[in-house]
Amino acid sequence: MVEEAKNLLDWSQWGRQWIEHLRRHKTLNRELERHLHKFEETFTVIGRQASKLDSTTESDELPVLITRAEQVQEQFHHFLRLAQLSEDEHLEGEVREPVQESMNAQPAVAEEVQVPVEPEPVSYPGAREPVRAARPVAVGRHTLPPLPYAYNALEPYIDEATMQIHHNKLHQKYVDDLNTAERKLAEARESGNFDLVRHWARELAFNGAGHYLHTIFWPSMSPNGGGTPSGDLAAAINRYFGSYDAFKRQFSQAAEKVEGPGWAILVWSPRAHHLEILTAEKHQNLSQWDVIPLLALDVWEHAYFLAYQNQRDKYVENWWNIVNWPYVEERFEKARKLRWEPY
Ligand SMILES: [Fe+2]
Repeated sequence: MVEEAKNLLDWSQWGRQWIEHLRRHKTLNRELERHLHKFEETFTVIGRQASKLDSTTESDELPVLITRAEQVQEQFHHFLRLAQLSEDEHLEGEVREPVQESMNAQPAVAEEVQVPVEPEPVSYPGAREPVRAARPVAVGRHTLPPLPYAYNALEPYIDEATMQIHHNKLHQKYVDDLNTAERKLAEARESGNFDLVRHWARELAFNGAGHYLHTIFWPSMSPNGGGTPSGDLAAAINRYFGSYDAFKRQFSQAAEKVEGPGWAILVWSPRAHHLEILTAEKHQNLSQWDVIPLLALDVWEHAYFLAYQNQRDKYVENWWNIVNWPYVEERFEKARKLRWEPY
């Protein structure tokens, strides 16, 4: 079977796992349950159609199916947001309409199923990426990723009340404020008024970094977690840190000694080709994690003071005359190949 068809099967299972998860952990009204049932049928149908592509690797059906899956995934993200917000009554109306619209375009695939197949019993969704060519997140349209296990699943290590507040309230706030910052900056581009760009750039960094780090944080834990890494990651840890114990000691020390609120983060450096342990104060100061730099401008005084003295604006203006765009384009081409599930 071609790789894309396998991805579609994974994606189908991923969707049905989320549905199972929502039914277990969310309060769904009849309207939401009706949509959920349609999504369930569609995930099942696309999975079944992908499984039939086994002997027809040259079929034209595959790209059609992938496009359909991407559409369904985008609609499902709207639905997930609706399901999350349905607990906040004042916001329910705001997002009902796009889901209705998207669902109206949906039944074409579902109707092809003669006998709907009940999804197999599943546990909790994994962190796998179901469709590699997932649609981008539009300006101000980030969503809270559902928790991939029950709120009490990490007890006794992390209590249910903490998880509820941390995920449902705090992470949701980062998502909301990131969306606001993106929309305000879009308005600034439209009007040409950048008076508040520093403020919104700070909001973008704090809330974006908070959203992205928490999106990594939740699936980095599991009720079945623990133990030690294996395979290539274990080898890379041993190679760079000397041993797993040495890595664990440094990571723990780094985490304990962050000044104020922050994070300890194991990272891969595409430049140095090795792992590293970094820390972040708050979430950002003043960047977003989970992004790859494409173009960088040094505005330390050492970069321009001899020629421009205090006129940083002149230096910045002139700098545009020497940007090496082919290099930036090359970095973009490489970076764009890395895609995580959009939230
Ligand atoms: Fe947090």
